[in-house]
Amino acid sequence: MSMEQRPLGRTGADVSVIGLGTWQLGGDWGDVDDDAAAEVLDAALDAGVTLLDTADVYGDGRSEVRIRQSLAARSDRPFVATKAGRRADPFEAAQYTPENLRAWVDRSRRNLGVDTLDLVQLHCPPPATYEDDRVYDTLDALVAEEAIAAYGVSVESVAEGLRAIQRPGVQSLQVILNIFRRKPLEELLPAARRADVGILARVPLASGLLTGKYDESTTFPADDHRNFNRHGEAFDVGETFAGVPFEVGVDAAREVAAIAGPDVPTSAFALRWVIDQPGVTTVIPGARNVSQVRGNVAAATLAPLSQSQLSDLERVYDERIRAHVHDRW
Ligand SMILES: NC(=O)c1ccc[n+]([C@@H]2O[C@H](COP(=O)([O-])OP(=O)(O)OC[C@H]3O[C@@H](n4cnc5c(N)ncnc54)[C@H](OP(=O)(O)O)[C@@H]3O)[C@@H](O)[C@H]2O)c1
Repeated sequence: MSMEQRPLGRTGADVSVIGLGTWQLGGDWGDVDDDAAAEVLDAALDAGVTLLDTADVYGDGRSEVRIRQSLAARSDRPFVATKAGRRADPFEAAQYTPENLRAWVDRSRRNLGVDTLDLVQLHCPPPATYEDDRVYDTLDALVAEEAIAAYGVSVESVAEGLRAIQRPGVQSLQVILNIFRRKPLEELLPAARRADVGILARVPLASGLLTGKYDESTTFPADDHRNFNRHGEAFDVGETFAGVPFEVGVDAAREVAAIAGPDVPTSAFALRWVIDQPGVTTVIPGARNVSQVRGNVAAATLAPLSQSQLSDLERVYDERIRAHVHDRW
C-alpha cells in the first residue's frame, strides 16, 4: 500500500507522512509482549509506514531489537530513526564524550543489525551540549565513517530546537507538536523549513488524551509513565500528556472530539491536524496494538480540517491549554 511520502530535510530519504513511534515496544507503557510488538510493526509496514522512530533506551534496547527481528523476516526496509544520549549516567553534558557517543551508536548498530544507522537523534540532550563543538564534531566524524547516515536532535523546547538548527550538520528535529502543543508553529517550524531540516512530530496524541478515550477516572498501570511520571518524577513532565494536567486534558479532549464530529475518529483528526502544519515531515504516533496502527494510518487519507474546525481548535487551546504549556516549552 502506498502512503504520501515527504522528503526528510536534506537526507535524501522520502518517508511516510504517518510514521510509527516505538517507545511502546520497549517499555514504560505497561506490557506489550513480543507477539503484540511484532504485529504492530508488521501492521504499520503493511499499511505503508516507511519511518520507524525508536531509541536505544526504550526497554534498554528491546524496541531496537524487536525492530531488527521484524525486519529480518521482511523484504522492505523502512527508514529507522533511533536516538542516543539517555544512557548517560549521570545524565549530564559531561557524559557526552566522543567515546560515549561512539559506544552508544555502536550498540544501536548491533541492536538494529546494520552497519550504518539511518538517523541518530540526540535524545533531549542536556542544555550545555548544544554549545559543545566536540559533540557535533563527533557526529560529523560518525557520518564520515558511515556509522550513521545522518543526525538530528530530539528537543524538549522551542528554544532548544532553534539552537539545534544553528548546527549545519543537523538534518532533523523531533518536537512535541499536537493540538495541545502549538508553540512550534510560531517560530520553530518556519525556521526549520528555511534550513531544510526535517520535522518528526512526536507525542501527537498527547500520550493518548487526543483520542478522547479517557475520562477523569481512567487509571494507568504502575509501569506506565502516565502513572509514574504524571508530575515529572522520572523525566521531563512535558513527555507525559504533553505536559497538560490530566483532568484539564480530558475535558479539552471532549471539545476536540465534538469539533471532529461523529464520523471522524478523534485520534485520526488529531494526526491530520499535525501533518497539515507547514514544515512537518512526518508524525510518529505510538501504538500498542494493530487496531491503533490502522486507526492512525487512516489519518493520511482524511480530508484536511475546515477553517472553522481550525479556529475552534485554536479557541480550545487558548481557553483551556495555553496557560499550562505555552511558556514552558
Ligand atoms: N524524548 C523523545 O525523543 C520522545 C519522547 C516521547 C515520545 N517519543 C516518540 O514519539 C512517539 C509518539 O509519542 P508517544 O507514544 O509518547 O505519545 P502519543 O503518540 O501521543 O500517544 C500514544 C498512545 O495513544 C494511544 N493511541 C495511539 N493510537 C491510538 C488509536 N488509534 N486509538 C486509540 N488510542 C490510540 C495509546 O494509548 P493507550 O496505551 O492508552 O492505548 C498509545 O499508547 C513515541 O512512541 C516515541 O517513538 C520520543
